[in-house]
Amino acid sequence: MTENKASPDHVAIIMDGNGRWAQMRNRPRLVGHHAGAKRVREILRASVELDIKYLTIFAFSTENWKRTQTEVAGLMKLFKRYIRRESQNLFQEGVRVRFIGDRVRLEPALVDLMDGLELLTADNDRVHLTIALNYGGRDEVARAARRLAHDVEMGKLNPRDVCDETFPRYLDTHVLPDPDLVIRTSGEARISNFLLWQSAYAEYEFIETLWPDFTAEIFAEVVGRYAVRDRRYGAVLA
Ligand code: IPE
Ligand code: IPE
Ligand code: MG
Repeated sequence: MTENKASPDHVAIIMDGNGRWAQMRNRPRLVGHHAGAKRVREILRASVELDIKYLTIFAFSTENWKRTQTEVAGLMKLFKRYIRRESQNLFQEGVRVRFIGDRVRLEPALVDLMDGLELLTADNDRVHLTIALNYGGRDEVARAARRLAHDVEMGKLNPRDVCDETFPRYLDTHVLPDPDLVIRTSGEARISNFLLWQSAYAEYEFIETLWPDFTAEIFAEVVGRYAVRDRRYGAVLA
């Protein structure tokens, strides 16, 4: 239990620092988001090489609606463009794509593209890419509680059976293992509402590099550090 295999099975990344990357170049923030989106493919390929089976990336939080209308609209447009452009590549590279987060507030054209990409890649199994879009950990737990309450109301679930094993079946991530390693770029040491339940025992790495500068080499180095960490899960090392 305390010995790590060389690579984590599931790595989750808070891709932060796009705005500062653009500001440093006197460019609009959206230029940073476009540069950041370009990094995803490289990190996904590196994941396969590093034997990481699950990669989860934070693309847009439930709090990011607080940004200017220009930035939010630009991001939504970027997500649509990204899915249109990358779908075939992702499919051909054996990537299974899933989205987590609340779709209700997203525009129907984007939701259609998300559904289409999930369907297209549903039989792939080489690497599992999960994109958190309009995702918030608290929102996810609240939505899960709502669904659970509904099942209780319908007589499908006995309240006595609600425990830390049954509850996560109601989370957006119910088919995924918990993340072993959570990486945040750009130097901020906080989790900003990402995978709250799932990361209870994750290892964390806060990296100074801004997301658009985060290369496969840096990624490999960070993942390499994971192998020498002791994961104790509350127990005492033998
Ligand atoms: C992360 O980069 C991407 C999103 C939140 C969509 P930021 O846009 O937060 O970049 P900084 O933190 O302002 O530099
Ligand atoms: C977290 O980054 C969300 C994403 C990376 C999508 P933020 O930049 O929104 O987080 P805060 O505002 O610094 O906490
Ligand atoms: Mg940020």
